[in-house]
Amino acid sequence: MTANKRIVLSSDHAAIALRQAVAAHVTALGWEAVDIGPTSPESVPYPHQGEAAAKRVASGDCALGIVLCGTGQGIMMAANKVRGIRCGVCSDTFSARMIRQHNDANMLSMGARVIGEGLALDIVTAFLTATFEGGRHATRVEMIGAMEG
Ligand code: RB5
Repeated sequence: MTANKRIVLSSDHAAIALRQAVAAHVTALGWEAVDIGPTSPESVPYPHQGEAAAKRVASGDCALGIVLCGTGQGIMMAANKVRGIRCGVCSDTFSARMIRQHNDANMLSMGARVIGEGLALDIVTAFLTATFEGGRHATRVEMIGAMEG
């Protein structure tokens, strides 16, 4: 399978069950899930999990990534520290579609303590089925990249 159908999944201890549901969902949608855990309920720091997932995307090993923690916020902040990563937290399908269409997001974050599984899976579908529109949006995304120096 080519790298462009590989998607890395990562969470902290607060989102293990939702991450596993997302893994099954992305597989059903035709993606290869690269699930980097964790699988045991011991506390694991979201910065480590966010960074590890983001590096898989930044390196090109995976085309996209989905990260989850309690709120989706901390792991998103960590992922966005990796050069080339554009990760947005979503709690609605409109935003999930728009971060692909306008922001060319390559990672999605969600909060397992914020939204239920049904909505989360709809958000994943919206994220994975939308495509970047380019044009004027490309110029703006390039401006974000320029901030990385
Ligand atoms: C862990 O308790 C919690 O802080 C974490 O999952 C996340 O919500 C941080 O942003």
